[in-house]
Amino acid sequence: MTIEAFAKVNFTLEVFAKRADGYHALRSLVVPIELSDTLTIEFANAITSDLPYADDLCVKAAKVLRSSAPHPERLKGVRISVKKRIPAGGGLGGGSADAAGVLVALNEMWNLRYSPERLAEIGAAVGSDVPALVLSRFAGPVVMEGRGELVRSASLKGAKVFLVIANPGVFCSTPEVFKKCISRVTDDPSILYNMVSSFAAGDVDLMARSFMNDLEHPAVELHPRIGLLKERLEKAGARGVAMSGSGSTLFGLVSSGEEGRAIAASLCAEGFKAWCVATYCPVV
Ligand code: C5P
Repeated sequence: MTIEAFAKVNFTLEVFAKRADGYHALRSLVVPIELSDTLTIEFANAITSDLPYADDLCVKAAKVLRSSAPHPERLKGVRISVKKRIPAGGGLGGGSADAAGVLVALNEMWNLRYSPERLAEIGAAVGSDVPALVLSRFAGPVVMEGRGELVRSASLKGAKVFLVIANPGVFCSTPEVFKKCISRVTDDPSILYNMVSSFAAGDVDLMARSFMNDLEHPAVELHPRIGLLKERLEKAGARGVAMSGSGSTLFGLVSSGEEGRAIAASLCAEGFKAWCVATYCPVV
């Protein structure tokens, strides 16, 4: 079976107090984008992948899913091949998207018949971003809370915008960025509300003003080049530029694919990595 695994950006990312398990409580609008890895999965003797990482989330996802089954011993192994396009370690959820794709594909190949909600629950044991990326394959943008285990559809099917995404070529360590972040002490529900309602209504002015990420300030302190790229993106015409996840990739709103491709090309000419992408929504 061959399937696409879509990357994400965080249109909002609020960071609350650290929990007893060492993770911070979050609230985020996670939006899938049309930038994907291609997964090819075939039956084999053992569960393996061709990725060179020790902590390969594809293999972990397949193993966690198999052990959740009523009769794991009856399920064949699989060989997973990944054609990578999503840059690794950039805040675009590449590894988690691949794991979510594996869960969805193997649910069919192993004939498990789990619901999207059950698959998302199983995904929580694989990684914090996996539940959101499982549900977004069915529902489009999702609201993620807790450490990532609480996910629900944002009811934004049909909403679509173009973005320029750009990477400054620096590596952000997730634990380091969280450590430097000052958690929110009060809850401001208007942050998520304004983001979701402006996206639903296609109000691009309010959308651009509503993008936010509590991890951006600490990431820029650690890596000033992120701040430089933000200025560059804004000057080139992208609106509401914000960072995705724990960085270092930034995104900004553009009015068309044509404008986005021109901005991305000018950034590439300056040595940054940049793409124009549309947000992704599954067929309703
Ligand atoms: O999710 P992941 O295991 O990649 O997170 C790496 C580290 O980032 C965690 O060990 C923790 O220090 C920090 N983190 C956090 N709160 C979250 C997610 C990550 O503090 N919700």
